[in-house]
Amino acid sequence: MESSQLFFIIMFLYTIVLSIISINCTEKNNNLVTNQAALFVFGDSLFDAGNYKYINNNSAFQSNFFPYGQTTFKFPTGRVSDGRLITDFIAENAWLPLIPPNLQPSNSNNQFTYGANFAFGGAGALVETFPGMVIDLGTQLNSFKNVVRSLKSALGDAEAKTIFSRAVYLFNIGGNDLVYPLVANSSLFQSNTKEKFVDFVIGNTTSVVEEVYKIGGRKFGFLNIGAYECAPVISILDTTNIGSCSKPLAELIYLYNKKFPDALRRLQRELSGFRYAFHDYHTSLLERINNPSKYGFKEGKMGCCGSGPLRGINTCGNQMGKSYELCENVTDYLFFDASHLTEKAHRQITELIWSGPPNVTGPYNLQALFELN
Ligand SMILES: *[C@@H]1O[C@H](CO)[C@@H](O)[C@H](O)[C@H]1NC(C)=O
Ligand SMILES: *[C@@H]1O[C@H](CO)[C@@H](O)[C@H](O)[C@H]1NC(C)=O
Ligand SMILES: *[C@@H]1O[C@H](CO)[C@@H](O)[C@H](O)[C@H]1NC(C)=O
Ligand SMILES: *[C@@H]1O[C@H](CO)[C@@H](O)[C@H](O)[C@H]1NC(C)=O
Ligand SMILES: *[C@@H]1O[C@H](CO)[C@@H](O)[C@H](O)[C@H]1NC(C)=O
Repeated sequence: MESSQLFFIIMFLYTIVLSIISINCTEKNNNLVTNQAALFVFGDSLFDAGNYKYINNNSAFQSNFFPYGQTTFKFPTGRVSDGRLITDFIAENAWLPLIPPNLQPSNSNNQFTYGANFAFGGAGALVETFPGMVIDLGTQLNSFKNVVRSLKSALGDAEAKTIFSRAVYLFNIGGNDLVYPLVANSSLFQSNTKEKFVDFVIGNTTSVVEEVYKIGGRKFGFLNIGAYECAPVISILDTTNIGSCSKPLAELIYLYNKKFPDALRRLQRELSGFRYAFHDYHTSLLERINNPSKYGFKEGKMGCCGSGPLRGINTCGNQMGKSYELCENVTDYLFFDASHLTEKAHRQITELIWSGPPNVTGPYNLQALFELN
């Protein structure tokens, strides 16, 4: 074969290959724009991207000051961490912009086309949890309904409906409900058995999920309750045994975590088309608390920011005018403050939620939920 002919054939193949690649790219981009699944977030401080920041009342714990936000953002965003949260990494993985807090002021009524974050630090599923200081799950649902109304009026019913059915709804709630009776007098807790109390927490969570389903939500993600019985703030409570996990809290958390997966299976049986991802966050967090070096941390039990033993006293950021210590290298730490994780820990947990095998996150993982049509 003459070399000029060979050159021509190679060029010809090359052109075909190029045009196939570019067709694929165009298709992929179109998919991204028109089939992009939104992300709606409900829960507590693990997921709160700054709703806290827009409510100025001093009674509540505030994460609006340095060193919160020191990594990545370089300023305090209201997130209770040094940097990004699990929900931020999920948005990145799903090619979404960062999902804005619902309370973030805006000048457009379709700013929530890619989703909204309703989570609020300290919130529980029960109205009795930290009353007057938080936006509980039921109130978060009402805020979601307002977003539903405004998206319907901005985009029309049909387009809005498509957004709601393709969207992923992520929940992390219940931890504060279980902690509250241990730090305050809860008559609801005192006048019910532990079983019944836990059923209330789960029941108030699943009824919100059912409401979202009625609006058109089909894809849901859930975490169980993390190993907060061993968080610095909790593990200093027994002053005779600093660093020990709390048995009373562990008992409630294990009870909840035993019952919660059954509640999800019930929803799946009863709600046609309901699909979900469930991550056993308790196990993944406890693994890291007990074996920090296996996951690239030097410290699994002590916070990076705070004061007192294990920096378990919540003074990070000079709260209530109290001084605090800040670790030198935050990437050595699992916990950033007395009860919240570092960005590095969030990134690791996200990986498990996003693409973990079914025994880690199932029946779907988040990636599979986002790809479902
Ligand atoms: C603090 O903000 C929450 C959320 O809006 C509100 O429910 C509560 O009443 C406020 N508390 C005080 C003491 O102002
Ligand atoms: C609970 O109530 C008792 C009796 O009224 C009181 O002594 C105690 O300080 C309260 N505990 C908390 C955590 O508020
Ligand atoms: C929700 O919690 C309340 C207590 O705040 C309880 O009376 C009610 O039965 C719970 N709802 C469900 C569905 O469990
Ligand atoms: C912080 O720690 C990480 C991992 O241990 C290390 O790679 C990095 O160089 C350290 N950074 C500083 C500023 O010491
Ligand atoms: C999940 O399954 C894999 C492979 O079978 C196994 O190595 C891993 O330990 C399991 N993880 C959990 C959390 O059970």
